[in-house]
Amino acid sequence: MTSVPLDLTGKVVLITGGANGIGEATAKLCVERGAVVVTADMNAEAGERSAAAIRAQGGQIDFIQTDVRSAESVSALMDSIKQKHGRLDKMVCAAGVLRGPWLQPEELPLEEFELTMDVNVKGSFLCAKYATPLLVESDSAVIINVASGAGVIGPSSSLAYGASKGGANGFSMTLANHLKDRNVRVNTLCPGNIVTQMKLSVDVAAAQRDGRSVEDAMEKARQNYGVPEGVAKIIAFMISDEADYLRGALFTR
Ligand SMILES: NC(=O)c1ccc[n+]([C@@H]2O[C@H](COP(=O)([O-])OP(=O)(O)OC[C@H]3O[C@@H](n4cnc5c(N)ncnc54)[C@H](O)[C@@H]3O)[C@@H](O)[C@H]2O)c1
Repeated sequence: MTSVPLDLTGKVVLITGGANGIGEATAKLCVERGAVVVTADMNAEAGERSAAAIRAQGGQIDFIQTDVRSAESVSALMDSIKQKHGRLDKMVCAAGVLRGPWLQPEELPLEEFELTMDVNVKGSFLCAKYATPLLVESDSAVIINVASGAGVIGPSSSLAYGASKGGANGFSMTLANHLKDRNVRVNTLCPGNIVTQMKLSVDVAAAQRDGRSVEDAMEKARQNYGVPEGVAKIIAFMISDEADYLRGALFTR
């Protein structure tokens, strides 16, 4: 018997936050493994550029500009997927923001707290809300919600981010239970420190706060942190049929 491990041929995979970082690396790998990928992100310029580069290598990928905070935008995203592909098999919710690192509670603007909760928690809820009717029709449906070690097993540089990722983890765990009898597997992924725009922006802010060299801080991050491609390999496994016995959350370096 021949089997192709981790094969995603023909699977329709939606990746939010797919314009950059972990989401973008995941999109590339899923396309390489045969998936038909849709990336959704606020950042249209980066999203279009990234999708065009992947298409130029022969991959099947579309970018749809989406704000995961908006019910209208997320609902329109799912309508487009239904219209073009007729189905959705896998959804990776990787869109995220980190605001207000090291700010004390009295310093953290309410708007920054609300924005972080809206993207990182409400965004995952809206994606689940509008994707579920499509996913329950698939015979291999998976949702991966990207949380973090921050707010799940340890503190965060940001009060808002820590709260939101604890919320994302709780939401994902509960969603898994709600959907388990509807043939949709839901898992949480908690990446460690990964070199992306989000993580680098925190290290730059720390260097500026402490009067250290920004270049040195970025170099140190590049040397010590993991790369998005490493996390992408874990996500591609998690959404594959090989992971059908996987329950709960996975943590990466
Ligand atoms: N990099 C790390 O060290 C790390 C660690 C743990 C968890 N994470 C999580 O991994 C996920 C991916 O982050 P990353 O590190 O690749 O960061 P990133 O900044 O490279 O990517 C995040 C993407 O989310 C998009 N986004 C932001 N707000 C959005 C919105 N309202 N609607 C749609 N898209 C939106 C951004 O445009 C960006 O493309 C995030 O959920 C993040 O919290 C990252």
